[in-house]
Amino acid sequence: MTQAHELAHTGLLVGARLITLAGNEGYGIVEDAALGWRQGRLDFVGALQDVPDAWRSERDVVDAQGRWITPGLIDCHTHAVFAGDRASEFEQRLQGASYEEIARAGGGIVSSVRATRAASEDALFDASLPRARALLRDGVTSLEIKSGYGLDFANERKMLRVARRIGEVLGITVRTTFLGAHALPPEFAGRADDYVEAVCEWLPRLQEEGLVDAVDAFCERIGFTVAQTRKVFEAARALGLPVKLHADQLSDGGGGALVAEFGGLSADHVEHTSEAGVRAMAAAGTVAVLLPGAFHVLRETTLPPLDAFRAHGVPMAVATDCNPGTSPLQSLRLAMSLACTHFRLTPQEALRGATVHAARALGLADRGRLQVGQRADFVLWNMAHPAELAYWLGGELVEAVYAEGRRVA
Ligand code: NIG
Ligand code: FE
Repeated sequence: MTQAHELAHTGLLVGARLITLAGNEGYGIVEDAALGWRQGRLDFVGALQDVPDAWRSERDVVDAQGRWITPGLIDCHTHAVFAGDRASEFEQRLQGASYEEIARAGGGIVSSVRATRAASEDALFDASLPRARALLRDGVTSLEIKSGYGLDFANERKMLRVARRIGEVLGITVRTTFLGAHALPPEFAGRADDYVEAVCEWLPRLQEEGLVDAVDAFCERIGFTVAQTRKVFEAARALGLPVKLHADQLSDGGGGALVAEFGGLSADHVEHTSEAGVRAMAAAGTVAVLLPGAFHVLRETTLPPLDAFRAHGVPMAVATDCNPGTSPLQSLRLAMSLACTHFRLTPQEALRGATVHAARALGLADRGRLQVGQRADFVLWNMAHPAELAYWLGGELVEAVYAEGRRVA
């Protein structure tokens, strides 16, 4: 007798057109295809005619009716847990104030810190869940969420707990990143080194509670220096935690090279990363995470060194950076579109950026492609051509979303 939970984890999708992303380039298309999974893992990816006959009676069969199927999208950089909003700062910027000016005047990240601290854990969960759900309904099955609007032990912990709960409730993977070194909280004004010390002291306690998958910092004029970031990374390394970095977003602070030196998973933003930084990233296997939403909202003009990334073989991921300040973006498909328009990625590069390379930016080897052995995370799309994923601005393209073989949207 098949167990109920096993049934939910076991299935066969027929009548599909697969975008497998197998290999290093191309969509990896398989027409007239089937997708099989067992215990939440893909155990068949290929031509329908090659499916063992018995499977049709043994498994839950879903007819894709000729629809395109991709791996579940992976949003590898978000700040989706926060309270309040910063619409008034959006208005101020439209009247000429810059992001840095607003931050120096006590707004920016610290304004979201005030709202996030004031919210109870339940209120924070209620405010944040719809954003994660919007990402899921647009095809995301794995989602990174950072802390960084708490900036004290209890509130960073609260954010990370909320992030974990979102993953449980939605039935998708949430990877948590500790971003204690995001901004200097007011109680540490003028004492940035002391604050960094506190952050390094919170980290093992949060890790002990199973709340930390990776560690991040904001290395920038309005964030933390290279020396301070290094301290945070050393604390992470001592605990065996992987690092990533908000690197070279507003200026070239050597962030790309720094995170590469620590064998980091990713350098994110990277608009101002130098050629030397790109080389260091290539040597370390550090992914460049492109965040075109922030670029777009801040009306930036300096493009990331895209040709250098390509020339040196640095994989480029694409993420939403969903956050209340620089990127109130709740669709990874829209991020892919912005990456094509602003950064001239091809639609195929954008899709690999939101799947294969995003998985790598999270250190997850078991997803990002439709291949036997990978997690059964996949999306059925209503579209006629794969390029439509990066073509439409908004709208509804998703027919169904599966995570670990279970339908989640
Ligand atoms: O990725 N650059 C720093 N962190 C965020 C913005 C956070 C905020 O403004 O609230 C980013 O752009
Ligand atoms: Fe960010």
